[in-house]
Formats: sequence, structure tokens, C-alpha cells
Amino acid sequence: MKQSINFESIAKEFLESLGVVVIIDTESRIIYMTEKYAELFDIPKPYPIGGKLYEFVPNEALSAVIRTGKESVEEFFEYEGRTMVINRLLIRKDDQVLGGVAFTSTGSRLTLKQLESKMSFLNKQVQFYRDNYFENTGTKYNIDQIITQDDELKSLIDFTKRAARTRSAILIYGESGTGKELFAHSIHNLSQRAKMPFVILNCAAIPDSLLESELFGYAEGAFTGALKGGKKGKIEQADGGTLLLDEINSMPIQLQAKLLRVVQEKEIQVIGGNNKEIDVRFVFTTNQDLAEMVKEGKFRDDLYYRINVVELRIPPLRQRKGDIPILVNHFIVKLNEELGAHITGIEKKAMDLLESYQWPGNIRELENMIERAFNYANSGELSMEDFERLRLKIIITENKQENSFTLRAAREEAEKLAVLRALKQTKGNKKKAADLLEIDRSILYDKIKKYNMR
Ligand SMILES: Nc1ncnc2c1ncn2[C@@H]1O[C@H](COP(=O)(O)OP(=O)(O)O)[C@@H](O)[C@H]1O
Ligand SMILES: [Mg+2]
Repeated sequence: MKQSINFESIAKEFLESLGVVVIIDTESRIIYMTEKYAELFDIPKPYPIGGKLYEFVPNEALSAVIRTGKESVEEFFEYEGRTMVINRLLIRKDDQVLGGVAFTSTGSRLTLKQLESKMSFLNKQVQFYRDNYFENTGTKYNIDQIITQDDELKSLIDFTKRAARTRSAILIYGESGTGKELFAHSIHNLSQRAKMPFVILNCAAIPDSLLESELFGYAEGAFTGALKGGKKGKIEQADGGTLLLDEINSMPIQLQAKLLRVVQEKEIQVIGGNNKEIDVRFVFTTNQDLAEMVKEGKFRDDLYYRINVVELRIPPLRQRKGDIPILVNHFIVKLNEELGAHITGIEKKAMDLLESYQWPGNIRELENMIERAFNYANSGELSMEDFERLRLKIIITENKQENSFTLRAAREEAEKLAVLRALKQTKGNKKKAADLLEIDRSILYDKIKKYNMR
């Protein structure tokens, strides 16, 4: 028997052989779908010819192609773990759009299979690098972690929230331990760049000779010993995000000129390589007054004016002593958690001691001091005795003379420490302390008086 061959049946076989194919009209009504298409989307027979495609295939993109007129060729399309290469085209007659067709690209099945497994391998790799990248470059702090009840610092926080949104360079000025890094991380987190990289370069921690290549990177073969493939600099790593140049006051003056160009031109010159455009938001910290350094010729004035578009000045702890109690409580809670300790608070006398000190190392020093006290106390409140070292420090600073480098001064310091230790060991019993020190009790009394100890 001879089968009748007409155009329609040949066209149908051709479409079926293409694989996954669907044709719709301008109203998204299904004109034709192949068996493979129906299989892929679990559409049972009889096929819903004339039905709206989007009612059978969620998130189908062909209707959008008709609506927008934007055809797509050879795009990856993932569905239930399978990756396909798909084309979505308009069907036209002269100027009129009649409908749309979506079909998978043909080609040997092997190639597509290989492509698919390669894609999934690459996807995993990208995920791996993305995770690692953010681990190495992400932020540690956000603005809610800045603890204060000081009005000046509170308004600085409000100002930071506003300033963070722009792209302007920000200069953070404050003594060591005042929380400059806390602010820098927060700025990134508050900005529109929060999901992009946050990269830190501490200018004081890296030898001057390496600083330039750390910043700008280098091209392959830029110098002997250069890595194959070159190396990406921190500026480029921060592209799209934020670069924190910590302790910018330590940057050598020759390098300052090169940095100025970047901040100004938004372009870097890779060592031994080409120019590259970059989009980086700069945040700088300094623990020295850059204006002073400019006067002394240690910092370039043009760079200074460029980087201090917005300046945050963090007041030292001694100028906001009202923050000491809440910071102490904050650190007690934090350390209890970290060390599994059960400290319930701090004695009034000990708190007075903390408030009487000038804290040259600011909050970092305070935190260290509390942590040290934790080592002496196990439970209950922190007491005066737990701050032995701080007491000693206070006594030393109070008695400090010009010739503090003398052997006598050193001897006295050692003596004070020994006396304090002995008193602590014997819980203030002076007779036992004198025995421990192997001195007469009257001499101990003299020392206690001399060094102003209680
Ligand atoms: N206002 C604050 N509230 C809570 N912790 C703070 C505050 N300021 C500083 N710290 C803590 O003190 C330490 C030093 O802060 P950091 O930002 O590294 O200082 P800097 O960079 O100015 O030397 C960090 O552990 C930080 O978390
Ligand atoms: Mg710092």
C-alpha cells in the first residue's frame, strides 16, 4: 500500500525530527508541538492545540519574544537538571508577525551531552570560586555593631549611613583602636556595592617594595620572578566593589602619585601591562593627621584633597568615657559566649578604675584588658584584683618621669609588679606578701606607700 505523501506530513516529520519544538500564534495559542516537547513538559495527549501555551508550560519565554520582538538564538535553557540550547524566533510574513517558534538546536547528541556536562562542571566551579572569593574579601562588621551612647559618635553613625550610599571616597581618621575598620566595613555593607567584593589592603603591613604590585598587579613577564599569567592587584579585585586602603598614612610618597591617578582617572596601569578601566569605591583610614603630614611634606597635598572628600573623625575613647560602661558590658557578654565563662558583671571599684584610665589604645585596649581580666576571674563579678596589669599601668603612667629609660626606672617597675603580684597571691595579706617577697614587712609598707598602692 502506498502511503500518500503530502506537504503537511513531510513538514510534520521534519518538525518531529528537530526534537523539542513548539509553534504559537500571536495570542500564544498553540499551533503545533512535537512529541519531544510534550514529553519534556509532561503534557498528555491529546495535545492542547489552540490552548494558551503559558497555561501548560510555566515560565515559558516564547510569548515574551512575540510581545517584545526580541528573538534569541542558541541560548542555554535549563529545565529539571537538563541543559539545552534553544532558539526562539518570530514567524513573519512580510511586515506582519504571525507567531513564534521555539526549537532546540540540532547537532550531534554527543556534542550537546558534552556541553551539558561541561556546563554543570563550570557552574560548580564558579560557585566554588564565588564562595571562596567572598570568604576572603567579604566584610566582618556592620553598622549595628558600633556600640555607643555618645551623641557625637551617634551623629557620626547617622552621617556614615548617608555618606555610604554615594560613590565618594571616604577618609576615616582616628587613633588606633577607635573602630576605624568597623566603620569601613559598615560603609561597604550600607552601600549599593554590598554584594560586590570588599577588599582590604593594609599599607602598613606590607613592605614598601611589594605595595605597588599588591595594588596594581602585574602582567606576565613584567619582571623576573613574576607569576605565570601575571597577578591581579587589589584595585582590580575590588572592581565593582569597595577597596579599603588601611593606614594610608604609611604609603610611600612615590606610590601616592600613582594612587592619585587611579582615584582621579578611574584607570589603572598594570605593571608591565595595559591600562584598565576600573570602578572602585575607595575608603581610607589613617591614624595620623594627614593635613599635618602634608605640611611636613610627608603626604602629597593633591592626593590628600582627593581622598578626603568625606571625612569621618572618630573621637578617642577618653573623650567619650560615658561609653566605657556599655562597652565593658558588651565585651563581658561577648567573652562569656566565646570563652564559655560565667562573669555576671563588674564591681563598682573596678569600673571606676577603668573610667579613670586614659585608654591610649582605645577600644581595642579596653577589649584586651577585659579579656585579660577574664583569665583571673572564673565567675561572679570582675574585681579590682582582676585588673592588676591595668593598675600597674596607671601607677607607672602617674609616676612617669622624664628619665624613664634609666635602669632605676626599670628596677622600680619590676618592683611594683612583684609587689602587686605578691599582694594578689596572698589576697592582700601584707605579712604573707612580705614573706613571699623575702623582705621585711616594714619595707613592704614603704614600697606600698612609695608606689601609691592600696
Ligand atoms: N564602638 C564600638 N563598639 C564595639 N566594638 C568596637 C567599637 N569600636 C571598636 N570596637 C572593637 O575594637 C577593636 C578595634 O577596632 P578597629 O576597627 O580594628 O580599630 P582601628 O582600625 O581604628 O584600629 C575591634 O575588635 C572592634 O570590634
Ligand atoms: Mg585598623
